[in-house]
Amino acid sequence: MAHIQIDASNTCTLKCPYCARQTHKDYGDVLSLGNYFKLLDYYDHLSFSGQISDPIFNPNLITMLNWSQNKSVTVHTAATSPKHTEDWYLRAFKSNPQVTWIFGLDGPVGWSERHRIGQDSAFLMDIMLMGAGLGIKIIWQCILFSFNEKYIDSCRELADKEGIEFQLNLSTRFTPNDPMEPSRVAVTTRGKELNPKCLVDQPHNYSAKGFLTPCCWIDNHWHMDDENVQTLYSEELRLENNTVKDIVDSDAWKQFKVTFSKPCWDYCTMANPSSRKIL
Ligand SMILES: C[S@@+](CC[C@H](N)C(=O)[O-])C[C@H]1O[C@@H](n2cnc3c(N)ncnc32)[C@H](O)[C@@H]1O
Ligand code: SF4
Ligand code: SF4
Repeated sequence: MAHIQIDASNTCTLKCPYCARQTHKDYGDVLSLGNYFKLLDYYDHLSFSGQISDPIFNPNLITMLNWSQNKSVTVHTAATSPKHTEDWYLRAFKSNPQVTWIFGLDGPVGWSERHRIGQDSAFLMDIMLMGAGLGIKIIWQCILFSFNEKYIDSCRELADKEGIEFQLNLSTRFTPNDPMEPSRVAVTTRGKELNPKCLVDQPHNYSAKGFLTPCCWIDNHWHMDDENVQTLYSEELRLENNTVKDIVDSDAWKQFKVTFSKPCWDYCTMANPSSRKIL
């Protein structure tokens, strides 16, 4: 099943310290309806998430969800803004009740803001409860940090009680001796071989810059300047001027998958998330 991960806007109101957005604030543009239509035509599974943005800031998000009735769709958000009122969420939920909504709240109400700087976690919790009450599939995604470790069980209990799925994520983005790093997570071990997931099941990625890449890991500030990755961002490969099929069948994509560059070694030699575990 063809799957795309979409950076649908170039904006976010939060200041999460590990996010690529902190160094790429003026990166790219919002996904246009024209480009979205091309994605919808090709992919069966669409994830509105992103590398440098939050999907709620695409002004056409509700229209896009409404157009995706027969697709598998997830919306991954953590941002809050005065513009996105309860009424906005009500319309968004109703535009396509099959959509799964994943909300990033890193701990209980009032604590999440320690990582999700600028978030209104109380408001977002109300929205999650409203969605669950409407029968929408809501996932509470919580990244484990030192400040929220002791609250995880109570968060999970609350989620269970309210019919919300609780998903605990173990981040790999900590620096050495990082005070935000939880005490209970085993260090990720690295594999010795390149194991290219894009050849099998890695979702493609739509970059806020208007290009497709074979996965989202290489569309970030750590790796987008790599010379091999740059071949995927050449002007003639803009989605605006092509179909998705033109791009994924292009010589540049075929060549990229043969040469696999340094970013791929960084990511695809990393042991998969199941090797990170809570002690
Ligand atoms: C850049 S965000 C964009 C979507 C949305 N704004 C959000 O934050 O959920 C894409 C993904 O990165 C995750 N993320 C953010 N900070 C992270 C961190 N420190 N470690 C691991 N994943 C993180 C988010 O939870 C989300 O799943
Ligand atoms: S909410 Fe998402 S896009 Fe916004 S700063 Fe945080 S991780 Fe980045
Ligand atoms: S990092 Fe490279 S090898 Fe791994 S899935 Fe992405 S494009 Fe493929």
